[in-house]
Amino acid sequence: MSEVLLSVHKINKQFGPTTALRDVDFTLCRGEVHGLIGENGSGKSTLTSIIAGIRGADSGEMFKEGNPYKPASVVEAQNLGVAMIVQEMGTAPDILVAENIFLGKEKRYSRFGLVSKKALNKAAADALGKIGAGAIPAGAPTFKLNPEDRKLVELAKAMYEEPDVLIIDETTTALSNDGRKLLYNAVEKMQSEDKGVIFISHDLEELMSVCTIMTVLRDGDIIGTLTKDEFDESVIKSMMVGRELTGNYYRNDYDGVRGEEAVLRAEHLTGAEMVEDVSFELHAGEILGFGGLANGGIHELGRLLFGIDSAIVGSVTLADGTHIKDASTAVKNHMGYVSKNRDEEAIMLNASIRNNVVLPSLSKLVKGGLVAGGREKALTDKAICSLEVKCQSMEQLTRYLSGGNKQKVVFGKWLGNDSEILILDCPTRGVDVGVKQSMYRLMYDLKLSGCAIVLISEELAELIGMSDRLYILKNGKINGEFARSPELTEQDVIHAMI
Ligand SMILES: Nc1ncnc2c1ncn2[C@@H]1O[C@H](COP(=O)(O)OP(=O)(O)OP(=O)(O)O)[C@@H](O)[C@H]1O
Ligand SMILES: [Mg+2]
Repeated sequence: MSEVLLSVHKINKQFGPTTALRDVDFTLCRGEVHGLIGENGSGKSTLTSIIAGIRGADSGEMFKEGNPYKPASVVEAQNLGVAMIVQEMGTAPDILVAENIFLGKEKRYSRFGLVSKKALNKAAADALGKIGAGAIPAGAPTFKLNPEDRKLVELAKAMYEEPDVLIIDETTTALSNDGRKLLYNAVEKMQSEDKGVIFISHDLEELMSVCTIMTVLRDGDIIGTLTKDEFDESVIKSMMVGRELTGNYYRNDYDGVRGEEAVLRAEHLTGAEMVEDVSFELHAGEILGFGGLANGGIHELGRLLFGIDSAIVGSVTLADGTHIKDASTAVKNHMGYVSKNRDEEAIMLNASIRNNVVLPSLSKLVKGGLVAGGREKALTDKAICSLEVKCQSMEQLTRYLSGGNKQKVVFGKWLGNDSEILILDCPTRGVDVGVKQSMYRLMYDLKLSGCAIVLISEELAELIGMSDRLYILKNGKINGEFARSPELTEQDVIHAMI
């Protein structure tokens, strides 16, 4: 039996009427990479944030290496050897990268009450170098970094303190393949030093390969813990949802039916970043997939199509000749966009679920200059029910939803507004398997009703499972086109990606 590194006993946590954790017992041993899995809102982030000193429990006890452990803050937890990479953005945008890495610990780099910028920057560069991210400039303002690099800054910060316990909350979806390698290297390092890792992800395949043991949470209860030899996809899924998942995950037709008419045309589209000479037609009733490595240009393409970034060469035009020159033209012309960068672009954290959901549909809801309250409620109710948004009421601020439930609100926004063209960038990011299935069904229904969908994704299975046609981008250029077919495999597509 391996040595217990950290244990929690009978932890309870209530948020108003919501029970986030109920009498939770959890043990992390040395040398373990301990997976935590469960549906959106099951309590994973709440449990780990209590362990990391971000918030306190209502009751219960924790022990680290046999000693009572009750951190009052993140810095105290770090000093006691527990570090966490949070699910949301864990760095402050307006300060330097180096300042984020040593937040609360600047004293180490100060003399006579003054912080030495030089010493701070040098230590931060060292921290970044240690995890293999030495290319990130330690002296840059943090907001200048892309979301991936900001996550790597958090990793560097966590690893620099040489923690005994590293908690990684739903981080992989924010990283490209290269970034993932750095994350997995850090996990391996922890394991080889006989320390402990708690790893949260909705990607079951990833968990089964990275973790040595896995615990399943459902609605704030621990359902069970499986060792590596007990890992079994269907067992884990039914433990998560409390029933067998049945029915088709993706769509099952292969006729590739679509409208005759091209509703959007990209011609020689070239962006300031990454996208180069991309041309294609999108048809009504078509799901057009775009895949490739995360840094291959797919996300930049989505921004160009919706007019958030402007093209330096080429154009995006609609069937009636309208030129999409900016995002407001896109919205006026019944286009919708789900951004991969959720908390900063896709959602208003300080607004209610209702206000977020109705935002793109307001023009439809207005009657004689007044917003029809009943219709707003009906629309929001529909989004909450069809996506099973776990919330206290539609008036709850989205800030207080779990990560996956925020994502459901982002998706739900576009269901009611009768968009004719939807650009979806990683729409199922961070949502659990059950809800993913509902999202696929909703996408398919939209297609059948004539909506044209651009589906941008880093998950090949999802692209192959849902697209009528699939383009692969490599270094910003189209490097392969695939038609929908039951014979199409991930291997076929990977060739075009690398
Ligand atoms: N600050 C808060 N205020 C109110 N409710 C909260 C707060 N934080 C979490 N909750 C609620 O507690 C429950 C558990 O949320 P938690 O974030 O732990 O879920 P999760 O398992 O991490 O989900 P996900 O996979 O979506 O990230 C959810 O119902 C959530 O809405
Ligand atoms: Mg979470």
